[in-house]
Amino acid sequence: MDHETRACDFLVMGSGIAGLFFALHAAEHGRVVVVTKKQSAESSTNHAQGGIAAVTSKEDSFAMHVRDTLEAGAGLCREEVVRTIVEEGPARIAELIDLGMRFTEREIPNEPGRRELDLGREGGHSKRRILHAQDMTGREIERALLAAASRRPNIQILENHCAIDLITSQKLGRSGPNRCAGAYVLDVVGGRVLTFSAPVVVLATGGCGKVYLYTTNPDIAAGDGLAMAYRAGAGVANMEFIQFHPTCLYHPRAKSFLISEAVRGEGAVLRTIDGEEFMGRYHPLKSLAPRDIVARAIDSEMKRTGADHVFLDITHKPARFIMQRFPNIYSRCMELGIDITKELIPVVPAAHYQCGGVVTDVNGVTEIAGLYAIGEVACTGLHGANRLASNSLLEALVCASRAARHSREHRPAPLAQPLPPWQSGQAHNPDEAVVVAHNWDELRRAMWDYVGIVRTNKRLERARKRIGNLQEEIQEYYWDFIVTRDLLELRNLAVVAQCIVDCALGRPESRGLHYNLDFPRPDPAWAQRDSVIHKDSQGG
Ligand code: FAD
Ligand code: SIN
Repeated sequence: MDHETRACDFLVMGSGIAGLFFALHAAEHGRVVVVTKKQSAESSTNHAQGGIAAVTSKEDSFAMHVRDTLEAGAGLCREEVVRTIVEEGPARIAELIDLGMRFTEREIPNEPGRRELDLGREGGHSKRRILHAQDMTGREIERALLAAASRRPNIQILENHCAIDLITSQKLGRSGPNRCAGAYVLDVVGGRVLTFSAPVVVLATGGCGKVYLYTTNPDIAAGDGLAMAYRAGAGVANMEFIQFHPTCLYHPRAKSFLISEAVRGEGAVLRTIDGEEFMGRYHPLKSLAPRDIVARAIDSEMKRTGADHVFLDITHKPARFIMQRFPNIYSRCMELGIDITKELIPVVPAAHYQCGGVVTDVNGVTEIAGLYAIGEVACTGLHGANRLASNSLLEALVCASRAARHSREHRPAPLAQPLPPWQSGQAHNPDEAVVVAHNWDELRRAMWDYVGIVRTNKRLERARKRIGNLQEEIQEYYWDFIVTRDLLELRNLAVVAQCIVDCALGRPESRGLHYNLDFPRPDPAWAQRDSVIHKDSQGG
């Protein structure tokens, strides 16, 4: 395979909200290259519906947003991180608006001609505080940020460039503290591996929903950044806390389509297939209870009734309101033959968000010098054991801007030694696509069956065994053959699956999103204790 070496000041992996916001800040201080796996807009960000949580109204306060976040996080949030992110949120939102983001507005009641930001509501929030662009908030964020990036000559975005692995001083055999010096990146279209040398490398690669059979995430969410950081020796924490979104559309022709929590925020209720409004039996906030509780309640109702879905009902609201507030959800469901103004929406829980990730502080600083992690790939301590709805876009904005400042102020000198080119296998395997697809399917099914919403140690052990076997098989194929994006993703998904299972087995209690029937209650001894793992200590 051909190779080529390139240098820049900031190498950013990912063009979602975290990567692009970082790039816009860093571009004032050096050359930024953003590598992105597919097209620039393809990201979880682009699919975000509900919006961004931030305190912008007089009826709301930082204290209330902090309290709601801590409550959802079930004793595992880092309070100082929560406070920083909540308090810096409004300024970052103002910057986003200055960059061109258009949030939905409404007329101020009793003040004709005057407008204000329209605020949505979602589960676990005690106030209306979700800024949104109808039900397509993410699409509008990507549009605004990509347009702003295109006006900065210092930012180069390389599409169809898939990062393979980080280059660290440790991997180069240097003694002393580990530091990152660049990365190997597969140019998918050009069929070559580029060696990037950069004093600052930023993981903004998003989450890992594709490790589960059913997910709301787009195909790019293969946990690449987490796996690369783990292989490079960085700490990874709290991966047992995978958030399952309660309401993914259940329809044979709808892959991964989310029905936003904002729909429940506007009054929709969950019903069993017999029509019973069941959430009152599980939580005083009923259909607007925190996500972990709603997802477990649905799981339990589906098991109790033997049904393969439940229903979401918003038919009591005026049709005009539904079509104006949720035009994307309305038209997608209509395409599939469901008129949500008149009919119930079939929904099921699906893997949605990784609350854990690469261990960082609130500046995105990892345990490896020169390496930053921001957005969903990072574990800052904001989410604890369960993320409050619409807090992730907020975290990405605040941490991206802080990481840009920190990396500018603490930029290490480039490594003196030249970086070696990527060593790849040479063989092409005609069966490769079949093998990858088969292994991918097996992995995702095992994760869904054994490491889902409700867990037991026996199921987790079973998953660990299967993942181990798969890893051996993948390793054999991986090292023999020329790398492809599918192969890289499969290898990364197996690492992520292992991290989830290792963290889950390491927590002998139930807390937030991690529910284990063998330990059905929270154990006070485990409050404030993160599940931190390292490659070397795991032997993986
Ligand atoms: P992403 O936006 O996922 O971007 C990751 C980027 O990294 C992509 O460009 C991808 O191509 C690239 N990438 C990945 N691997 C590689 C690699 N190996 N090499 C190069 N590039 C790579 N959160 C909220 O706060 N509010 C919401 O309303 C909301 N709604 C959501 C709805 C859906 C359907 C989903 C899936 C998520 C939602 N979330 C929401 C969560 C939120 O959208 C994500 O957590 C957030 O967008 C993550 O941003 P990010 O920049 O970290 O990653
Ligand atoms: C949604 O719109 O329901 C998603 C919000 C989120 O994941 O924060």
